[in-house]
Amino acid sequence: MLSVAVLISGTGSNLRALLEAASEPGFPARIVAVGADRDAAGLAHAEEFGIPTFTVPYRDHPSREAWGAALAEELRRIGADLIVLSGLMRLLPSALVDEFAPRMINTHPAFLPEFPGAHGVRDALAAGVEETGASVIIVDNGVDSGPILAQERVPVLPGDDEAALHERIKPVERRLLIDVVRGIAAGEIDLENPSR
Ligand code: GAR
Repeated sequence: MLSVAVLISGTGSNLRALLEAASEPGFPARIVAVGADRDAAGLAHAEEFGIPTFTVPYRDHPSREAWGAALAEELRRIGADLIVLSGLMRLLPSALVDEFAPRMINTHPAFLPEFPGAHGVRDALAAGVEETGASVIIVDNGVDSGPILAQERVPVLPGDDEAALHERIKPVERRLLIDVVRGIAAGEIDLENPSR
């Protein structure tokens, strides 16, 4: 059984979908901890499922590196097989990425390499594209530049604002994320040698 730690910053709707999937009999992974860089609303989902939570507040640390070192200590203590970034809105310091790579994956609301970064949905709208998408990648030291494990297109519709488009993308993200975690747990996706 693959053990998974999840890191969030926000509402945790994708986290919730993963918690629900992992509570199904036969799902080959279990969530062992959920952490956040702030007092994230989504931690309540983990509590509801009886999963331990932790917070390493970014603001309590003098630098990104110091925050990353504190987060790495927590992740080491938890010792999960896989770390899922599910809406963690922070760039991770390279020391942390180097320690846990390639066992750290990220879900992103765009069809990477299009529209990386913190505003993937807004940037797609601003570019006026007819299609954007969702991607699940291995975290590397770039901004959303790691190997792509799964991705799918999502249409941009006339009249979309950022919230409407993001709500259309999120169900696709959830499905891709659950499939990728299942695939890693089942040995169908090799993080050391990813190929699609
Ligand atoms: C998700 O769409 C996730 O892909 C995005 O934040 C959202 C979190 O939603 N992450 C990024 O944009 C990272 N660059 P949630 O808190 O409702 O799951």
